[in-house]
Amino acid sequence: MDLCIIGSGYVGLVSGACFAEVGHHVICVDNDQRKVDALQAGKIPIYEPGLEDLVHRNVAAKRLRFTNSIQDGVDHSQVVFIAVPTPPQVDGSVDLTYIERVAREIAGVLKPGEYRVIVDKSTVPVKTGEKVADTIKRYNKGAEFDVVSNPEFLREGCAVPDLMNPDRVVIGSASQKATDLMKQVYEPFRAPILVTDVNSAELIKHAANSFLSLKISYINAVAAICEASGADVEMVADGIGMDKRIGRNFLNAGLGYGGSCFPKDVKAFIAISKQLGTPFKLLEEVERINDSMLDRFIAKLRDSLWVLKDKKLAVWGLTFKPDTDDVRNSVAIELVNRLVAEGAHVTAYDPKGAEKAVEWKLIDPDKVKLAPTPLDAVEGAEALILATEWKEFVNQDFEEVKKRMHTPLIFDGRNQFDPETIRGFGFTYHAVGRPNG
Ligand code: UDX
Repeated sequence: MDLCIIGSGYVGLVSGACFAEVGHHVICVDNDQRKVDALQAGKIPIYEPGLEDLVHRNVAAKRLRFTNSIQDGVDHSQVVFIAVPTPPQVDGSVDLTYIERVAREIAGVLKPGEYRVIVDKSTVPVKTGEKVADTIKRYNKGAEFDVVSNPEFLREGCAVPDLMNPDRVVIGSASQKATDLMKQVYEPFRAPILVTDVNSAELIKHAANSFLSLKISYINAVAAICEASGADVEMVADGIGMDKRIGRNFLNAGLGYGGSCFPKDVKAFIAISKQLGTPFKLLEEVERINDSMLDRFIAKLRDSLWVLKDKKLAVWGLTFKPDTDDVRNSVAIELVNRLVAEGAHVTAYDPKGAEKAVEWKLIDPDKVKLAPTPLDAVEGAEALILATEWKEFVNQDFEEVKKRMHTPLIFDGRNQFDPETIRGFGFTYHAVGRPNG
């Protein structure tokens, strides 16, 4: 099929590459000329395992191309996906200006007699599909189109496998013709397809992300009770996770959730529910627990180190999760900045995220030293903090780590180390929700 995707961010670019991989012809449209130039030159603006190969292969096979022209994309596609950002506003509600603008732009290029399915892939509040349809109609009376909601559930760091093998594909549609075309788009993926009305599909995305955030905050609250009682949250999570109705996934206690989706989507769902007159108070508590995790962790640092001012601290991990270079809304970055604000001397190491953290001015390189390796980061440190669970951190030479540190003290913000092993090396070890933690 001929497809067009407007917006070449995480969702747009990875979806475009995966649609091309299964045989569709895909045009990715972006209004950032620098990004289009880079993609045309074979440069991938984000780090996502497997993405670069996928893009190169499909560009070479002429199934994938990049342009800045919405006209070009819409003219040559049966199905037009919208995958532009929907950032939060100050009050937590969703800023829909990019979606509205794209709807007007699509309206401007739709030609009479040329039916198109307009698909919203961005995460949007319930009822946005209706607004997109109204807008297109208002700006182009004769346009023939249907609006479909098709939320994307990919996770950063494993976006390609998530897209190629989705748990489910949700198609929110009021038109059989549009539903049939959407089923054709997804047929090669052989995934379970759930067809719903547009409003339900939009709600599924916010409800799913909020539920996963709730799971994380739940286990983090349990971790606090474990710390107060001497129980081990890892064992508790295993025990409750073995119940198939609950499941072990997303029960990893730590510094809390971050990234571009959960914090924003929980806030948005709180705002949406308020606007609809049905406030979702439970989610306010989910947020409160998440916000308290760093305070609790820093309090633990103070308990051991007493004063943080002038302490030399090593931080492993800056990205909001492993296997990505994404540092937006990263709890690790917030931690680093809070330590610096208290006067600590922080040296950080991250396998992929350090460059972007500086480029996007999320950390000040005059205040935070960046080390080229994990071992360089711990040189002379009075404590080591693991803030993001990159696999390479677990496999370090801990004899050497200890030798290089000033004092052998580890704070594990993601419960990555086996306490006995790490204490066996002579470290004092603190984790989240674990005995002597
Ligand atoms: C999430 C959803 O999983 C995905 O379906 C949606 O499309 C976008 O939002 P993502 O933000 O890429 O994906 O990462 P995810 O792996 O879900 O992790 C989000 C945050 O939660 C990270 O900061 C992670 O460290 C944290 N987390 C996750 C925990 O603290 N504990 C867990 O058990 C799982």
